[in-house]
Amino acid sequence: MAVRARPIIRALLIDISGTLMIGSTPTGRVVEALAELRRIGFPFRFCSNTSKESTSVLQKRMLDAGFDVRESQELWTSLKAVRSLIQSRGLRRPYFLLSESAKDECRLDLHDTNVPYDAVIVGLAPALFDYDHLNSAFRVLIGEEDDDDDDSQKERNGSEDPKASIPLIALHKARYIESSGGHGLALGPGPFVAALENATGREAEVLGKPSKGFFSTVIESLDVEGPDSEGCIAVIGDDIQTDLGGGAIELCLWRILVKTGKYRSGDECKDGVHAPDEVCDSFADFVDSLLSCLK
Ligand SMILES: *[C@@H]1O[C@H](CO)[C@@H](O)[C@H](O)[C@H]1NC(C)=O
Ligand SMILES: *[C@@H]1O[C@H](CO)[C@@H](O)[C@H](O)[C@H]1NC(C)=O
Repeated sequence: MAVRARPIIRALLIDISGTLMIGSTPTGRVVEALAELRRIGFPFRFCSNTSKESTSVLQKRMLDAGFDVRESQELWTSLKAVRSLIQSRGLRRPYFLLSESAKDECRLDLHDTNVPYDAVIVGLAPALFDYDHLNSAFRVLIGEEDDDDDDSQKERNGSEDPKASIPLIALHKARYIESSGGHGLALGPGPFVAALENATGREAEVLGKPSKGFFSTVIESLDVEGPDSEGCIAVIGDDIQTDLGGGAIELCLWRILVKTGKYRSGDECKDGVHAPDEVCDSFADFVDSLLSCLK
């Protein structure tokens, strides 16, 4: 059911959990629908807001469920967005408050320990959320980095005002999360990011879905933004806020809500949400109607 006429869609950003699969079970006809998109060369990307799983673990879970997914370009998580941002901004030495597995995915070999820290990147890292680590992050952000290796004359690139130039980047700002052992709620990274924001008077850039930074990074990877590109980029998901909110609205993406996963009747007209552009019964139904328009 189209709420208003659908524009030409030239690429599709696809939510995974609840849209393509429920737990580890694919939603109806979804594997075939994706295969058809791939067959006609329709550009798409899979997007997840997970910051617990590395991109390769998520890929394995999708492969096990029967999806054909090629990790390197197609599958995007917050961690991969961080990695891409490190490259595109040419960061040489971020200060990481990340779990070991998250750090492994973000760390690029080019990191140079002879330059001062040039960013602070925070995800869920319970083992590092103590005074010493937070204080080090704070000092990096205000340009008073500790000289842990007593090499106080490190070259400082473009040393105008380090305070203004060192970004604070958060994978997400969840205030609390469901603890992994199923023992109820636990503190998320949000309050620790907030502490750094408060102390420095700055706001963190958030890189998880649905931030603008996340969607922009994924869209860049599609390479479909040219001066003569016609039509819209669309995003499809089962959660009106996490999948279709924030950056999806700011970037004017065409927003499609599916009635699978955590969708509940009436989600599209709940108070305080930006109504989706389109509501479909399932991902496969949307692909059917997309393909029938292309014929
Ligand atoms: C991801 O989105 C879900 C809702 O779809 C939300 O419950 C969860 O907290 C989000 N996770 C992160 C890491 O932001
Ligand atoms: C920091 O937190 C305090 C206490 O809530 C508040 O009064 C102050 O405005 C905050 N400062 C900034 C820069 O966020």
